Amino acid sequence: MTKFHILTLFPEMVLQGLSPSIIGRAAERGLLSLNAVDIRDYTLDRHGKVDDYPYGGGAGMLMQAQPVYDAHRAVTGGRAVRTIYMTPQGAPFTQRMAQDFAREEELVFLCGHYEGIDERVLELVVTDQVSIGDYVLTGGELAAMVMIDAIGRLIPGVLGNEESAGEESFFNDLLEYPQYSRPEQWQGMRVPEVLLSGNHRLVSAWRLEQSRQRTASRRPDLYARYQEKQRLTERLSRQKRDNIHMMESLSRGQADIIYTDFRGKDTALLLYDRCCAIAMLTALDGETGERMADLLPGDTRMVLVSEAFMRDLLAERGYAVFGEFSQMLYTRKEALPVRHKEIRRLSMEDFPYVSGWYGSGSEGPGTEGGYVRERIQAGAMYGAFLEGRQVGFVGTHEEGALGMLFVEEPFRGRGIGASLEAYAVNRMLERGWTPYGHVAVGNAASERLQERLGFYKAEKTFWWLEKVLANDT
Ligand code: ADE
Repeated sequence: MTKFHILTLFPEMVLQGLSPSIIGRAAERGLLSLNAVDIRDYTLDRHGKVDDYPYGGGAGMLMQAQPVYDAHRAVTGGRAVRTIYMTPQGAPFTQRMAQDFAREEELVFLCGHYEGIDERVLELVVTDQVSIGDYVLTGGELAAMVMIDAIGRLIPGVLGNEESAGEESFFNDLLEYPQYSRPEQWQGMRVPEVLLSGNHRLVSAWRLEQSRQRTASRRPDLYARYQEKQRLTERLSRQKRDNIHMMESLSRGQADIIYTDFRGKDTALLLYDRCCAIAMLTALDGETGERMADLLPGDTRMVLVSEAFMRDLLAERGYAVFGEFSQMLYTRKEALPVRHKEIRRLSMEDFPYVSGWYGSGSEGPGTEGGYVRERIQAGAMYGAFLEGRQVGFVGTHEEGALGMLFVEEPFRGRGIGASLEAYAVNRMLERGWTPYGHVAVGNAASERLQERLGFYKAEKTFWWLEKVLANDT
């Protein structure tokens, strides 16, 4: 359950604003909690004062450090909890940031008032400064409510249909297309004919075109980014098997383009997924490789490379090889038959089973329990059951690859693994994704399973590298 703590001088405002909404209902259902804390309760001033004049003069009053600090301590108990200060000076709030914050189990929102807050307490407690737009509000409460709404709806289960929060990424970087409901004719205006046709392919094409036109005219900035991604994806698609991981990362809206170099038919590319701190790159030669290695963000945890010289170059720079993999992809659009019927999306109740088995045979990046917890919370894991007892699981990794396939020894050889994979493939197809995965080189059984399902193997092999932390050495 995600806990939202709001440090504010107006706790009623935040609670009354959120309680009647979908977020409030999610709180009642125990999917998240809203804890509004009155900073004034922590002042040591006899008259309940929390503000004072700024040193050096100037207009207005400042919130003092002590009550803010004590309120923060009371909430966190000194634990390291991500703490967001709402301020017009912060980084502009985006959907990407909302996805990132939605992965936290606990968040503190600090709402300022008057002319701001004493800088010293901000230095001590704040981890992120965020603005909801280039305008000035009278306080941070409305901004915190905006953020909580945007983050809260991404928590699995908060929106009725588990898939609906992911929908937008389908038309990534484009604005929504226009929508119509009954009646077919209203005030002389008809619903566009194509929407009544019942032809899903035509409807999708029309919507995409509408989205494009809207974005080009209303948000040329977004449209330029969309076009850049389209151009890049088109180039990558010439070697689809080798590049599907990057194409998917772009089309699912996960990665930023950090570096590109087009040389004739070849492409050097560095993508970075800020949410999971994973880089993917393909280099042309030592020179582009060196440049990309220099550009890897400081917080990079893992890198996926497809050239041996890049593997060696990064190994020299403090990344350890985690494994060598074949990349396999499923290019058909049709859903696969799922023979084993007892398969469903996993919830946190299933966590002990998965964490007990994960890493004990099924390979994949990040083998600790925290990773599995995060994947289940992201709605990205599915389990197979036999008469109600769990016997295996599968999931999508944070960078987007299908993996983590596991079936308990006594239940192997009955097609349960194939059914789990087919089930996960179908869920990915529903979202407009192209399923792909990484099979450890030498794992012939897994490779055969994928091939039987209709996966193709890339010519290149891939290496996952992990940043070696100073205290590991
Ligand atoms: N506090 C005041 N104005 C704000 C804004 N635009 N974004 C976030 N917090 C604020």
